Amino acid sequence: MQPAEETQRPALIPIRGVPMIKYFAENWGEVEGFQAQPDDLLISTYPKSGTTWISEIVDMIYNDGDTEKCKREAIYMRVPFLEFAVPGIPTGVELLQKRPSRRLVKTHLPVQLLPESFWEQDCKMIYMARNAKDVAVSYYYFYQMAKVHPDPGSWDHFLDDFTAGRVSFGSWHQHVRGWWEKRREHRMLYLFYEDMKEDPRREIRKVLEFLGRPPSEGLVEAIAQHTSFTKMKQNFMANYKTIPTSVMDHSISPFMRKGVTGDWKNQFTVAQNERFDADYERQMEGTDLSFRMEI
Ligand code: A3P
Repeated sequence: MQPAEETQRPALIPIRGVPMIKYFAENWGEVEGFQAQPDDLLISTYPKSGTTWISEIVDMIYNDGDTEKCKREAIYMRVPFLEFAVPGIPTGVELLQKRPSRRLVKTHLPVQLLPESFWEQDCKMIYMARNAKDVAVSYYYFYQMAKVHPDPGSWDHFLDDFTAGRVSFGSWHQHVRGWWEKRREHRMLYLFYEDMKEDPRREIRKVLEFLGRPPSEGLVEAIAQHTSFTKMKQNFMANYKTIPTSVMDHSISPFMRKGVTGDWKNQFTVAQNERFDADYERQMEGTDLSFRMEI
């Protein structure tokens, strides 16, 4: 199905104070009332933190490392995006309602907005976090290519918005902190993009253990190879190239852009970096959560 023409760059709308893509906000009632099932696995991230990467890894685990099975459908069908809504396209909730059990569910919601049923059903959750500077850069290019977002303006302007949480899904700082605290009382594996870059096999073993699967070396190797950046960039079932250009324009910036840690150094000026660091210290004060900005 083709999305309706009017999907171009509407302003964000707050949901309980969190700025949200307009169409997502308009469909909020459906999301809030979503009925999770006990065997749903939730994959939660702040945008641009490696959601697609960890989703492909988990789908490989669910399919015992069978790469052909993992190419049966696009990633956004295999792991539906809970709060997704764009006119003319089935919503995330509609897709999820049609999936067989043992569903994989993607969300970018901050912890306080997650539908209650996920807690009530005690669903397992994997959270993947990425350092704020690389997320800000990745998000800036994504805002440009994914036209459901408002126009990001200049990099300097966008960085100010990002720092202040005036972007879709709100504050990065509050997102990573909120989920970090929640992991103390819930069945949650909290992963870092930087760790995954550094040693994917080690992190894949962690995921296998969390899901109660034996970490056979053959399986770990198959997953590591299939989910490398190079492979995923070429994989049409993972690289979002099947989305209509009116929604995502890869000629502006590809979804699979660079896939590295530390790219922020090519984007931040010295002044921007100093300003960001000072604010970061303030916003991250008092947490034992820490990030590596390079590896
Ligand atoms: P960059 O824009 O820095 O390249 P999400 O899936 O949460 O939207 O995150 C997208 C980011 O993850 C992009 O970052 C993308 O290139 C990167 N990414 C996707 N698959 C990856 C992989 N297999 N290995 C490393 N990075 C990956």
